[in-house]
Formats: sequence, structure tokens, C-alpha cells
Amino acid sequence: MNVENEDEKRITVEILKRIFRCRSVKLEFLRRSGGSSTWRCTILIPEAEFAQETEKRYFVKTKISGPIPEEFIIERWRSNCMAKRHDVLSKHLGIYVCNNQSSERFERDLTKHCIHPLPDPGKKSIVIEIQSFLNGATLGEVLTERAQVGFHKKVDSHLAAKVCRAFAKVHNQRLEINQEVVYDESLQALLERFEKYVPSRIVHPIIDRATKLHMYGLGQELVDKWLHKSERLCALHGDLRCDNIILPDTSTIEGFAALIDFSRTPWGAAGYDCGRFVTDILEFYLQTRNEYYRLFIEEFISQYETLRNDPLFREELCLGVFPMLLIKLNPSGTPIEDLTIAKQLYEHCIKILEAGKFFIPQIAS
Ligand SMILES: Nc1ncnc2c1ncn2[C@@H]1O[C@H](COP(=O)(O)OP(=O)(O)O)[C@@H](O)[C@H]1O
Ligand SMILES: [Mg+2]
Repeated sequence: MNVENEDEKRITVEILKRIFRCRSVKLEFLRRSGGSSTWRCTILIPEAEFAQETEKRYFVKTKISGPIPEEFIIERWRSNCMAKRHDVLSKHLGIYVCNNQSSERFERDLTKHCIHPLPDPGKKSIVIEIQSFLNGATLGEVLTERAQVGFHKKVDSHLAAKVCRAFAKVHNQRLEINQEVVYDESLQALLERFEKYVPSRIVHPIIDRATKLHMYGLGQELVDKWLHKSERLCALHGDLRCDNIILPDTSTIEGFAALIDFSRTPWGAAGYDCGRFVTDILEFYLQTRNEYYRLFIEEFISQYETLRNDPLFREELCLGVFPMLLIKLNPSGTPIEDLTIAKQLYEHCIKILEAGKFFIPQIAS
């Protein structure tokens, strides 16, 4: 439900005033997803120590409803630690667990005092995470805009390069010990997810039982193919999709792409991340049939293949295609609403998995 909740807003404003020790907090609702809300928060700074600035912006996530705020805390905490480890942008300022009775407050900044046990949030608590605000558009927004104005491929090699640089910063990190165990475990975890999700969570009307069996069989083959190749182990973002990449500056060819919203999958093969990424853009392509997206995917793959000097990169992308397909067909993931597009994406991803190699369908625009 993508609507602002007045109660949630009022309570959040009160708590933010306490946290920032200020009298005025402006809170603008951005969106609601997975039971949490996101807000743009602006505070006026009267203190002398910030004499240069009169106001400061933050990005705030709140979770007020639902019986399990602990999960939200752990998710955000994990994302926070991952972002710090990769030194992406040190932008998480703290996670606060607050009682929604403003008189009885308890707050704990898990980021700074992570040695403390997790506080017991209770059903009436509100959990607030504060990040510095990143000005800029998501990659999804940038691609959509450029597709509409018919951007030229040559110019966009710069955009693909920014994305590649951001990905490489994470994927170039290696684990020093236990590579074999961690690598194989990451694939086993993937297989377990297929086992769990394919039969039960994929209730999409386009998929019957026989198809599910075929899908699961492909998942097993995929995992078998990549087991015991621990030289491919690297750090991961875990949920690389267009909405989790922010471009603070699209007007110049320099600048960077900022990765946000790190997931719980810290290690694995880079194809896991990149396969998710290209499948996300494939959905845009199928939806609009706009050539721009196809060219962008090809440009990204060719640049990253060269950067990683990896002839198996296109094959390895299958490791991410499968889980992203599941998310896009799963009612509790981010399901594609248009059933025709869902079917097309499903059919094409199955072809990719059968071929063991990522490719883009030929469709006439
Ligand atoms: N620090 C930030 N500054 C500005 N906008 C942000 C920031 N973090 C996230 N966003 C925006 O909010 C959206 C949702 O945030 P995200 O952390 O990805 O949460 P989720 O995908 O779990 O809802 C992002 O796609 C992006 O548009
Ligand atoms: Mg996100």
C-alpha cells in the first residue's frame, strides 16, 4: 500500500525532533515497501557548529507496523554493516528503536554500540533508520528517461562504465580464508532457495506443476555446474537491481554510481549479482520493447566481461537470472503485474537457463 500514514508520520516527526534536538522537522513521504516506509527528512539547524548550513537532509526508513520489527532491524543493520565494509558511502547514521509513547523513550544507536544486545522492540515500538540523503536519480529512473529520449549507445558507454566501476569495487574484494567452503555454501543456499520457493511461493497463474518441476531441474543443473569453482568467490551486494543504484550526477561522464540497500548475501560468484541486474533491465526491455535497454545490457556485459577478464561471465550470469526470475514471479517478492510480460520474461529466462548462457531475445519493436 503506497500511501502515507498520518499517524506514522506524526510519531516519526516527534521522535526525529528528539533525536536531532531540534524544533522543526519536515518529513516527506516517498514510498512504502515490504512493511516499511521511506521518507525525506529536512531539519533546520540552529546550532553554531553547523554555521555554514541552515538545513540538512536525511533519508529515513521507518517500520511501525507488523509483528516482527526485529527482522527489520537485523536486515537494516546487516545492510548498514555491508555498506560500511565496502566503504560505498558512509551514510548510515543509526538505527533507533523507540517507544511510540513519546514520554517513554528508549533509543539505541546500534551502529555505534553494536556490542549491545538487540533491544526488544515490542509491538508498540517504532524502528527508525537514519541515513544521509543522496541526491540523485536511481538507475531505473535514468534508464527510463534516456530510453524515452532515444539516447545514443556511444554516449551511454559512460553510464555503463560508472555502473561497472561501482560493481567492481565490491566484486574485487576477496575472502582470505575458507574460500571453498563459503563458495559451495553460497550455491547450496541458492539451491535451498529454489527448493523452498519454486514449489510453494511461485503461485503465478502462468506456471503449472510440470513447469515448476522443469524450473527446479534447471536450478539443480545450474548449481551442479558451478559447484567447486571457488576461485570465482568474491564479495557481493546481493540485490543489485536498478532501484538500488543511485546516480548523484548524470550530467558528466565522471562521477560514480552509489550502491544502496545491501542484502544478506555477502559472498558468492559475481554472476549472481550481475545476472540479477541484467534480468531487471530485461524486464524494462520486454515491457517497452525499446532498443535502448537491449543496447545498455549488451554494453554493460561487454564492459564487465573485459574488466573481469572472464570468458565465462555470460554463463555465470545464469546464477543471478534464476533468483531474479523467482522474485519477479513471487507474490511476496516484487511480482510483475502484467501477466503477459511476466510470461515473456519467464519463457525467456527458461531459454537462458536451458542454453546455460545469458542472451537477449530478438523482438521487433
Ligand atoms: N540515502 C538515500 N538517499 C536518497 N534516496 C534514497 C536513499 N536510500 C534509498 N533511497 C531511495 O529510496 C528507495 C528505497 O530505498 P531502499 O534502501 O532501496 O529500500 P527498499 O528497496 O528495501 O524499499 C531507493 O530505491 C531510492 O530511490
Ligand atoms: Mg531497494
